Amino acid sequence: MQIPNLTLYRSVLIAHGAWRWVVLIAGFATLVTAALQLAERGSWAPTGANLARFFGIAVDIQVLMGAALYLVLSPITTVMLSASHMRLPHNSQAYYFVVRHPTTMIIAFIAVHISSVLVRRARSDAGHQRRAIIFYGITLAIILYGIPWFRPWLRV
Ligand code: HEM
Repeated sequence: MQIPNLTLYRSVLIAHGAWRWVVLIAGFATLVTAALQLAERGSWAPTGANLARFFGIAVDIQVLMGAALYLVLSPITTVMLSASHMRLPHNSQAYYFVVRHPTTMIIAFIAVHISSVLVRRARSDAGHQRRAIIFYGITLAIILYGIPWFRPWLRV
């Protein structure tokens, strides 16, 4: 079994944990902007459209870091993956990071990209805004559910 590079592991773990806040702020900013614009009959582009795009990019970056942790760096997942015959108790932290967290976040990743297509396809500003509230709202709820809140909220 390969021993993961611990310095790189720590750095990516710190970055992955901190980047969640960028993802959450971008998601909430997109929702609040869409709601305010809808109330004021404002136009979706450029502010709403740019925030939504940034939310998608922030999730992409987070998923990339998550994949690096999952496949290469994290001792929790790499050890478990190389011992795939082991049955993990469903309430263990290993099961959480090998199965639950990645599955939930891959669903969120798919959701953010489907949302982006659906929002772009709307024909009016109000349509963009309503769809953004619904679909990015669902995406954000999935992300909030998938975050391991039992871990430190910020590592230094
Ligand atoms: C929006 C998407 C995601 C968010 C917001 C997120 C958030 C987090 C947070 C807050 C932690 C705890 C960090 C810490 O303890 O300091 C974490 C750990 C982890 N995440 Fe994610 N994650 C996301 C996607 C993913 C994906 C897609 C994967 C795998 C393919 C993944 C794999 C991991 C692993 C393996 C750990 C634990 C590493 C360890 O403790 O050794 N994450 N994630």
